[in-house]
Amino acid sequence: LVLGIDSSTQATKALLVDADTGEVLEERRAAHPDGTEVDPRSWLAAVDEAAGPLLERADAVAVGGQQHGMVLLDERGEVVRDALLWNDTRSAPQAAALIEEMGGPEASVAEIGSLMVASFTASKLRWVRDEEPQNAQRAASVLLPHDYVSLHLAEQGTTAFTDRGDASGTAYYSTASEGWKPELVELALGKGLELPRLPGTPQEVMARTAGGAAIAAGTGDNMGAALGLSQGEGDVSVSIGTSGVCAMVSPTKPDDATGTVTGFADATGRFLPMTTTINAARILEAGRTLLGVSHEEMAQLALASVPGAHGVTLLPYFDGERTPNRPDARATLTGMSTSTTREDVARAYIEGLLCSLADGIAALEERTGTAAARITLIGGGARSEAVQQLAPAIFGREVILAPPAEYVALGAARQAAWALAGTEEPPAWELTGSKTVGGDGTPEVLEAYRALKERTESWS
Ligand code: XUL
Repeated sequence: LVLGIDSSTQATKALLVDADTGEVLEERRAAHPDGTEVDPRSWLAAVDEAAGPLLERADAVAVGGQQHGMVLLDERGEVVRDALLWNDTRSAPQAAALIEEMGGPEASVAEIGSLMVASFTASKLRWVRDEEPQNAQRAASVLLPHDYVSLHLAEQGTTAFTDRGDASGTAYYSTASEGWKPELVELALGKGLELPRLPGTPQEVMARTAGGAAIAAGTGDNMGAALGLSQGEGDVSVSIGTSGVCAMVSPTKPDDATGTVTGFADATGRFLPMTTTINAARILEAGRTLLGVSHEEMAQLALASVPGAHGVTLLPYFDGERTPNRPDARATLTGMSTSTTREDVARAYIEGLLCSLADGIAALEERTGTAAARITLIGGGARSEAVQQLAPAIFGREVILAPPAEYVALGAARQAAWALAGTEEPPAWELTGSKTVGGDGTPEVLEAYRALKERTESWS
């Protein structure tokens, strides 16, 4: 048996899984405190609660975790300050300053694989240098959230470890040379820090628990989800959650200095180019609130209209957008006539959401030079019947609907099973309960959306 843990922003989720088949035998969870700045010791309490009772039954364990967060420790391994998480944006000016100090967008992306934003760990180190010099002084090492949780599970005396996937979200790891860049820690913080060990191979056993179970390297949550979904090269996952994430497993490094595609490493030795939109499930929520209906009714309304919603088009940048980079934008609804119906408006909302994700898929294809192979839809927003039915039409190809599951924890379990087996490739686990939907493409809908996007470019 293997144990997969997801230490996410909101909760710890633990799955006890059959290493041969991938069947989930038991599932437990414990909540995390809210906020963008939290005491990392709260994750250890949550992992004890959720995973503790399962740990002794497991032969191997791995931890997936929220990417980018900064856990600062002193010489004795004590927490220096609360962890600053990926969704804490205070270090935006520091990210911009570091990009300039690294020689500008192109030079920095060639080095670290992605255009740095406030989410990335290095920008948070710079913020500590600028605002809390006493903490910068005290810090002796820096870990990512998943490293801190993995270390807690390991026997006494273990030195910290991480993996290349999560490391690639720090901005002091080079995806070009596949190793740490200690000089970038120095640049950010004004002094060097001890960094966790990196594995030689993705299936390496990095440590043991006190009970003797193998501990694999773990990884960032997006890389964990790709493993959990068994994404192969060219496969794309489209996740409609709080944010909309399109992620492709790619053999090549995408290097996008515009910042549209982040060039993270994955947990299998490849890369995981991603696009992230701010407006995703909230588009559905905004639509249903405006129309005064439930999510189910919203879906039925949308399905009662026609492709293109009789000319109504929504550009869904309600709360500003990150992809494309229009932080001050607002949504635009065009093409209404006196005969426009609520059905058309509902349809335009769903089509707007799917078109923004289609742009994400197109950006991944363009940057990697690889046509998307299988496209799998996951996340809360993917439960909408209208989203499920219209996705193939907007994406112009078949879409796999994956059943709701804890894919990050499942991916961590798969990595643990891989470490246990020591094989060349991770174990082949079948994704049960998924179904494939196809249908006629409606390219004119995406064309109308892109025309509107272009027309409004100068508005923000
Ligand atoms: C990715 C990112 C988020 C976190 C969420 O760049 O910031 O997806 O990994 O936990």
